[in-house]
Formats: sequence, structure tokens, C-alpha cells
Amino acid sequence: MEQVSVGLVGLGTVGAGAARILTEHADRVARRAGRKVRLKWAVVRDARKSRDVALDGVRVTTDVDQVINDPEVDIVVEVIGGVDAARRIVLASLAAGKHVVTANKALLAEHGPEIFAQARASDRAVAFEASVGGGIPIVNALGVGLAANQVQNLSAILNGTCNYILTQMTLEGLPYADALAAAQTLGYAEADPTLDVDGTDTAHKLAILAQLAFKAGVPTAAIPRQGIDRLQLADLKYAGELGYAVKLLALAKLTGSGLELRVAPVLVKRGTPLAEVRGPYNAIRVVGDAVGDTFFYGRGAGADPTASAVVGDVIDVAAGRALLTSRVLDLWSADQAPTPLLPS
Ligand code: NAP
Ligand code: HSE
Repeated sequence: MEQVSVGLVGLGTVGAGAARILTEHADRVARRAGRKVRLKWAVVRDARKSRDVALDGVRVTTDVDQVINDPEVDIVVEVIGGVDAARRIVLASLAAGKHVVTANKALLAEHGPEIFAQARASDRAVAFEASVGGGIPIVNALGVGLAANQVQNLSAILNGTCNYILTQMTLEGLPYADALAAAQTLGYAEADPTLDVDGTDTAHKLAILAQLAFKAGVPTAAIPRQGIDRLQLADLKYAGELGYAVKLLALAKLTGSGLELRVAPVLVKRGTPLAEVRGPYNAIRVVGDAVGDTFFYGRGAGADPTASAVVGDVIDVAAGRALLTSRVLDLWSADQAPTPLLPS
């Protein structure tokens, strides 16, 4: 059986989760991919840090260029986060003929056109299922499973950290700062948690979903957004007394003249599906003209659910399907007229 080699760049929450699946379930991965998938390299900032994952046979380095220039490496998995270093690594990997798997929504939202242009020029795949919804396969669902539809409406909880904080404040009466600290300890939050709580991470994810669902070329800065960082325990208590839960929602609505997008904390009637999503879970309601109402639900943050999506992409690449999928999901190809964005 032909072997595929992986260079894993980043061994934090998501990278360690992906390494665990690739090493502990190597037989399952090989069966699903139709070939052995070898984790050859792991790239970190600090090689002396102890890791919560067995790395027998994996070469650990701080030199990412050693991995990008290794002719044996077929797939580079970028899970370091941030934008500048990640952009360089992804572009250099594609230019070197590697397929790329990334969980980095900030990178795709801010540099998607450049990255997908490089992927096309290099004839390589960029797979990004883990960038939105954690373990929920919403990228493939929107790009492939629902491709027959004109999506009309999308409303979603896309940030596990915020939903965890709101749940802890509402159900346990935990102060905001304590709930945020717990979300960081559990590995849900971004390295800079401001991105979670001010709504930016949700806006990055909404920009990607809007591109998939509407071909709308949306700069994240153009999405009006408000986070949960100014909410008080009393706000959530009064909402509850009136029969509502407060949820940070990403909203997209197609109107006759264009697309309305926004990210905001919203009062959601208790008992409805979005109101009952708790902890680090995400949920996405998509209404299409043919399918009608659909609802996707699952863990939106954390090591294992995100690694589920990352390794699913690795298997797709190893099986030889990803290049085709990458073309279908190519967010920035000019094969359709984009939907105009309505001014906020
Ligand atoms: P993390 O825990 O902070 O881990 C980052 C890893 O990258 C660390 O191992 C770090 O090395 C390494 N790293 C950082 N900069 C590097 C550089 N310049 N060169 C080499 N290695 C570098 O981050 P994470 O939570 O796993 O998130 C990774 C990515 O996945 C981000 O884009 C994030 O938005 C996305 N994501 C995260 C989740 C989640 O639930 N956490 C879910 C979906 C998507 P050291 O360990 O040596 O410091
Ligand atoms: N910080 C992000 C969240 C990770 O809490 O949803 C998943 O993208």
C-alpha cells in the first residue's frame, strides 16, 4: 500500500488531538484513506515542552522549512493559529507542492483569495472543514450536500467559547471572567480570547460560510458585529425571567437586493433549538429553497471534535478526493457572480 506522509505544524490543543487520532487509530485511518498515513513531523515553537501525546517515530522540530522542503511530505497540516506566520507556511507549502489542511478561520477569512489562488496555481488542495463549527461537517454540507439549493437564511452559534461562557453564567451564575478562564483552561478559546468574546471569531466563520452559501466576497471588517464582552449576569437573568436565552448568533439573510450579515448577542425564545444549545456546542440552522429547514449540531471547540474534522480532511487528501473537493469548495474562484452585500 502506498504511504502518505504528514507534517503537522502546531501541537497545541488541535494539533495534539489530531496527532492522537493519527497515531492511536492509524489502522482505522489507513482503511478509510486506502493507504497508510504516516505522521512524520510535528513542528512546535518550544521543542522542550512536554506534550500530552505519544510521538513515537514522529520527528519534532522547530524548523518548519525542514518540513515544507521534505520531498516525502505530501500534506502539511497548519494548526498554529494567527495570521502572518500561518499565511507564510500555507503559501510556501502549496508552492512546494504539498496539500494543505487548516483549521485557521482567521487566515482564510483574511487571505482566502491569495491562498486559493496559490492552491489553483500549484494544483493542490486546501481543506478547511475544522475552520467552522469544530466537529460539525458544515463546510462539506454547505459546499457539497446542499449544493442544489439557494440558501436563503442561515442562523448559527459558531463560537464554543462564547456559548460556554453564556451557559456557565446563565445556569451556574458564574461571573464572566471566571467562565472565560475556564473556557481557556478547557482549550476552547483562541490564543487571544478577545477574538472570541468580541465577535471577531464568529465574524471570520460567518465570512467563510457566506462565501460557501452565497458566493459573497465578504471582508470580515464589513460584517457588523458585537460580542458578549459587555454582558452582565443581570442581563442573562432578566432574559431568563422573560423566557429567553441570550446567544451570540451569526446571521445571514438573502433579500431581494442582496445579503444581510451580522454577528450579535440575540434574545432567543427558550425551548427553540438554538436557545437550548449549551456549553461548547455549536449549531447551524440553514434554510435552502429545495431542502427547507436543516439543523446541524455538535461540539464546536476543543481538541477531539476539532481533530475529528482535521483528520477527516487528511483522510480525504490521502484518499485522493480532496483536490476535487477543494475545487468544489474553492471559496474564491470566480465561477459564479457574487451576491452583493447590503450596507449595514
Ligand atoms: P494552541 O493550543 O495555541 O496551539 C498552537 C500550537 O502551534 C502550539 O503547539 C505552538 O507551539 C505552535 N506554534 C505557534 N506558533 C508557531 C510557529 N510560528 N511555528 C511553529 N509552531 C508554532 O492553538 P489551538 O487551540 O490548537 O488552535 C490552533 C488553530 O486551530 C487556530 O487557528 C485556531 O483558531 C484553530 N481552531 C481551534 C479550535 C479549538 O477548539 N482550540 C477549534 C477549531 C479551530 P508550542 O506548543 O511549542 O507553543
Ligand atoms: N475559539 C474557537 C471557539 C475555537 O471557541 O469556537 C473553535 O473555532
